[in-house]
Amino acid sequence: MRTPRRFRFRRTTRMLLGGLTAAALVAGLIVTLSASAPTPQAAATYRDPHQPVEARVADLLGRMSLDDKLGQLTQAERASVNPADLTSYRIGSVLSGGGSAPTPNTPTAWADMYDRFQGAALATPLGIPMIYGVDAVHGHNNVVGATIFPHNIGLGATGNPELVERIGRATAAEVRGTGIPWNFAPCLCVARNDRWGRTYESFGEHPDLPSAMTSVISGMQGPSLADPGAVLATAKHYVGDGGTVGGVDQGDTRLSEAELRRIHLPPFRAAIERGVGSIMISFNSWNGTKLHGHRHLVTDVLKTELGFTGFVVSDWNGIDQIDGVPGLSAADVRQAVNAGVDMAMVPTEWRRFIDLLRVEVRAGRVTTARIDDAVRRILTKKFELGLFERPYADRSYAATIGSAGHRALARQAVAESQVLLKNADGILPLDPANNLIFVAGTNADDIGHQSGGWTISWQGGSGAITPGTSVLAGIRAAVDPSSTVTYDPAGHGVDSSYRVAVAVVGEGPYAEGAGDRPGAMGLSGTDLATIDRLRAAGVPVVVVLVSGRPLDIAGQLPDWQALLAAWLPGTEGDGVADVLFGAHQPTGRLPVTWLASASQLPINDGDGQTPLFPYGFGLSYPGQP
Ligand code: BGC
Ligand code: BGC
Repeated sequence: MRTPRRFRFRRTTRMLLGGLTAAALVAGLIVTLSASAPTPQAAATYRDPHQPVEARVADLLGRMSLDDKLGQLTQAERASVNPADLTSYRIGSVLSGGGSAPTPNTPTAWADMYDRFQGAALATPLGIPMIYGVDAVHGHNNVVGATIFPHNIGLGATGNPELVERIGRATAAEVRGTGIPWNFAPCLCVARNDRWGRTYESFGEHPDLPSAMTSVISGMQGPSLADPGAVLATAKHYVGDGGTVGGVDQGDTRLSEAELRRIHLPPFRAAIERGVGSIMISFNSWNGTKLHGHRHLVTDVLKTELGFTGFVVSDWNGIDQIDGVPGLSAADVRQAVNAGVDMAMVPTEWRRFIDLLRVEVRAGRVTTARIDDAVRRILTKKFELGLFERPYADRSYAATIGSAGHRALARQAVAESQVLLKNADGILPLDPANNLIFVAGTNADDIGHQSGGWTISWQGGSGAITPGTSVLAGIRAAVDPSSTVTYDPAGHGVDSSYRVAVAVVGEGPYAEGAGDRPGAMGLSGTDLATIDRLRAAGVPVVVVLVSGRPLDIAGQLPDWQALLAAWLPGTEGDGVADVLFGAHQPTGRLPVTWLASASQLPINDGDGQTPLFPYGFGLSYPGQP
């Protein structure tokens, strides 16, 4: 860690001496030049950690060329940029898209990659560190072996902001263990239509719940951004992403400004009150206008009215969509920056972005004041994070990745997130002793499915994609040796000797638009056939629904003895078993209204429709409060 610093110092000194010699040879102006030359960087104000951040930013800004500034506003994707490009183009930020990981996908390889990019950023004349961002939306989910926490919909069901704050803290530590100081989380979307493929990224349909869960930001950002275990959080996606017509991802949210402010704005207000460092713009439009180019909402409302002092980052190629014509254009870039976007997530088009913006600035269509404001906002966070003092990965945090302590926290969150929706004749909790249990279903023994999208890959995957405890493994671990647990995914082999059958069914993994469900909202034919097979044997069926949202199950529910909504629990499936066997009483409450039929969608609390289960519903075990 210290070697590259020394190297940088020597390199800088050499360059400075070289510059002075050349100037002396050419013009013989050595005296004048040394009198007016800026302070050598090693002694510069911006390098001095004892100076206030504001003074450091002002000093650094005064030394930057237009190209230095344009680079700071640019974020490229790791697979589309080389470390050397960071040096040549002065690029200020790099990201990993969903599932974009080094090979092998190990914490060490991540930290090595991070350090390589950082070393290249520090090799620029001013040595400004880059900031690396990643989607750690339910734990450090791109990294094999990381703790995968429940997706937000499950955390919303816990109703426990203090627990969610601890999850933010744990996630930050794991992210820092790979060097990364910036997380594109939390999603503060208020999901109003379960057809939307990102419903599971929402803490709930009522603005109050996502607002309360902004506690996760305090967890991630720690007591101060300078804390070595803290990361910069991102409130996303501003604003109205969960309100699109038809629940279409990246669609149009058609609401009056009063309604937009009442439903979708409150979590962002709460995030700003908690000091969130960055805010990501949403792909969606508001009444036909793309948020990425929306000056009123981004500058007037977010920055001026709500007083957001951090920086605004665009979403993946989101700037590109502003003018409705494929391809990044001058109009896209101008509108985005003038609307108030500070950093551009231009994963592959970063060169083009820099070139287009340079022309806009030279032509005066984007003012230098606007560029300086954006750079100032970004540099402020880099200084606050301590990146100038500690630019490289602090590998001591790597030990927290997938640690027993973090897995125990995740297990607790899983248990608290379970929502018991039906429990006829008190069939639950199951007796761990002297029991005969048949387990079936597509999601019973599948870490990938129980983790959902944004796990190891963008869309998520099936099977043992990362270490964890499946629901089945949790059940097996929960029972006493006097009990028998038999498993068959399709329910073959079940007979009337079993006392209970647990069917773990639901949805497969998906992310973003791929998860939109414009049609049927029910269980798959495979899942329905499995449940039928269990019922045909005359065994009472407990359904555990592993899904990113409520499903259309009203037609089948009378045939089921019990129903537990498990959401997308992540790697710690034993938390589901904790509730099934009564080690943990069910305390989860619905963070979303449960549809009685797909034709009702969208259905939300207070809209006058009769749901299958209302917002806030959740049973306890008999004899429990
Ligand atoms: C998503 C964001 C995410 C970004 C980077 C986008 O497609 O909408 O939530 O942060 O990609 O992966
Ligand atoms: C990336 C995601 C991103 C998406 C946007 C994917 O290739 O991995 O991070 O959100 O593209 O379409």
